[in-house]
Amino acid sequence: TVYPDQQIASVEVARRIATLIKSKQQQNENAVLGLATGVTPIKVYAELVRLHRDEGLSFKNVITFNLDEYYPMKPDAVQSYVTFMNENLFDHIDIDKANVHIPDGTLDVDAVAAFCLNYEKQIEELGGLDLQILGIGRTGHIGFNEPGSAPNSGTRLVTLDDLTRSDASRDFGGKENVPTKAITMGIGTIFKAREIILMAWNQKKAPIIKKAVEGEISGEVPATYLQLSDHVEFILDEDAASEL
Ligand code: GLP
Repeated sequence: TVYPDQQIASVEVARRIATLIKSKQQQNENAVLGLATGVTPIKVYAELVRLHRDEGLSFKNVITFNLDEYYPMKPDAVQSYVTFMNENLFDHIDIDKANVHIPDGTLDVDAVAAFCLNYEKQIEELGGLDLQILGIGRTGHIGFNEPGSAPNSGTRLVTLDDLTRSDASRDFGGKENVPTKAITMGIGTIFKAREIILMAWNQKKAPIIKKAVEGEISGEVPATYLQLSDHVEFILDEDAASEL
């Protein structure tokens, strides 16, 4: 779906999230959300904060799982996805912080595999993700599933692509400071969500959106695996959709 600009598109995504949360509230159930970081979802989170502040939208029944985190990464570092989520969303809403899950960038390397298995188990025990929101990296990554990721991959430690580290270099004051690894949900983890929304804005994303939507399905562009799903929607602004 193509919207005139990212503000209108972001308000629409936030409205859908709010509708899901409210319908779960009516059934006395939790809404289990998969969340993304990066510049792309910032306006969605801003609109959710506004809905909480101005319209009383409550997040008491919301349980969240973030897609990924750099590794190693301290949660209180400015570049951590924990800091990002707190600043853009969690510090401004009434979510119970015990319901927030973000991959742990402080683990000993020996403890990562067990952590990842448990992350999958926690999602499963809650009945799976109701909705996963995604951005897309210029390598075609979703989460941090870089080229070469398997379609059935689970949560795991991965090595970041060179282009991904270049794109992150501004946040870290130089590419040499960008971690070389991350913990990410897998393509398989994402696929199990009952609904998937991938968002992309700006001309910069137009070439990778063309590949993701129209290109051959291949591990070289992990987002092409989404073509195999019947419960995914790409929400784009006109610039990101301009090469389709
Ligand atoms: C980051 C994140 C992804 C995100 C992507 C795009 O590295 N790990 O989850 O979707 O790259 O980022 P942005 O939205 O800033 O363009």
